[in-house]
Amino acid sequence: MSKRSLSFICQNCGAASHRWQGKCEACGEWNSLAEEGAERAGPGRKPPKGRLFALEGLAGEARDAPRLASGVAELDRVTGGGFVRGSVLLMAGDPGIGKSTLLIQATAALARAGHRAVYISGEEAVAQVRLRAERLGLRDAPVELAAETSVEDIIATLSEGKTPRLIVIDSIQTMWTDMVESAPGTVTQVRGAAQALIRYAKKSGAAIILVGHVTKDGQIAGPRVVEHMVDAVLSFEGDGTHQFRILRAVKNRFGPTDEIGVFEMTGSGLAEVANPSKLFLSERDLGQPGTAVFAGMEGTRPILVEIQALVAPTSLGTPRRAVVGWDTSRLAMVLAVLEAHCGVKLGGHDVYLNVAGGMRIHEPAADLAAAAALISSLANAPLASDAVYFGEVSLSGAIRRVSHGAARLKEAAKLGFTRAVMPESAKGEAGDPGLQASTVGNLTHLVADIAALGKPGKAAKKPGQDG
Ligand code: TYD
Ligand code: MG
Repeated sequence: MSKRSLSFICQNCGAASHRWQGKCEACGEWNSLAEEGAERAGPGRKPPKGRLFALEGLAGEARDAPRLASGVAELDRVTGGGFVRGSVLLMAGDPGIGKSTLLIQATAALARAGHRAVYISGEEAVAQVRLRAERLGLRDAPVELAAETSVEDIIATLSEGKTPRLIVIDSIQTMWTDMVESAPGTVTQVRGAAQALIRYAKKSGAAIILVGHVTKDGQIAGPRVVEHMVDAVLSFEGDGTHQFRILRAVKNRFGPTDEIGVFEMTGSGLAEVANPSKLFLSERDLGQPGTAVFAGMEGTRPILVEIQALVAPTSLGTPRRAVVGWDTSRLAMVLAVLEAHCGVKLGGHDVYLNVAGGMRIHEPAADLAAAAALISSLANAPLASDAVYFGEVSLSGAIRRVSHGAARLKEAAKLGFTRAVMPESAKGEAGDPGLQASTVGNLTHLVADIAALGKPGKAAKKPGQDG
């Protein structure tokens, strides 16, 4: 039997195949298979005999203070209170979003607090990293810096002396290990390098952050296969046109996955945004139709954002539906409910929906605010600028209760809002934050209320039923 030392690995999903194919059978991606050397423990080899180890009970003694707060509060919020000893975290994001900037800031903060913190860059030269640190005012922080790409060299160097508390590897795609024969940047290499670093973290107790670039078309191999191996995956989001950046936990073995951290990219690095609602509402077009303020929740934190809608007559056979920052199928559902139950005809209109400030909303509670913005735009009736909206729309048109009503109202009151439009059933739990609550039981009522606001004579097309 001939020993097979090569196989074809899909650079998108990591599936292995014995021969080259145009299309990956596992994930359906075209032209994604590349030839890679097999890992050294090939199928021909007899597996070595394992070492015996003791199994333990759950009730054993827990180790000492396992978390280390980074000193960057927004980052600690997302990790669940700091970096866990011996854990490995993947920080994924588009190139240029600010991963290196955030991590050099976190490393410097830890080093200043007296912990051993190491920053290994595989992408930039030491001089470049220094230049950035200087610009960020971090030159005096005792960070240990190197530009290296060999995992074996890195682990050998770090094993000398006191174990570092935090090691940043920027980025995992540039690392390579001798244990694997493939070229750097391929899935096998990335996986091999990540495995070696994870093993080092578990053994030594150091926390490691791996940086991973992800492009929209999955061009660069790696982060997807690494996601399964690490303890936490943080995704750094935002788009080039906004200075806001949102850090979100996608997976977290040691903390919550619904918290977000908000940063602002400034001339001197990433600044923490302690009150995101204020920031997202800073540029409101008051008195314009088609905007509604949504009282949302991100984890334990209430966040107010403006939802903007534009409903305009179309000249196309198939009207356009475009959404930024919200779910397309959620919009389709709200539009269908408006058409089916509220008599609002949108078939001849293009619909655009945008969440201001580059924020992405994942909550169904935004349905009511989105519907209000849509109806307001269609009826050309500006909504009251001091009102917030929240509630889930069901397929029957009923407005359903959502969680954390009290926290949403409290945040709205804090920012000077005086009215809340919310589900009927939320009234009892809301407490008394000083807001005037208008409850809606059904989307039909909202349509009627907004149509009644429309300026007489100017209203484009009254969508109302009985208003
Ligand atoms: P960077 O951290 O290098 O991104 P990544 O590591 O995710 O690829 O950030 C690069 C961008 O950030 C770059 O376009 C310039 C901008 N930036 C600032 O606006 N201000 C700053 O102080 C720094 C350091 C970067
Ligand atoms: Mg970088």
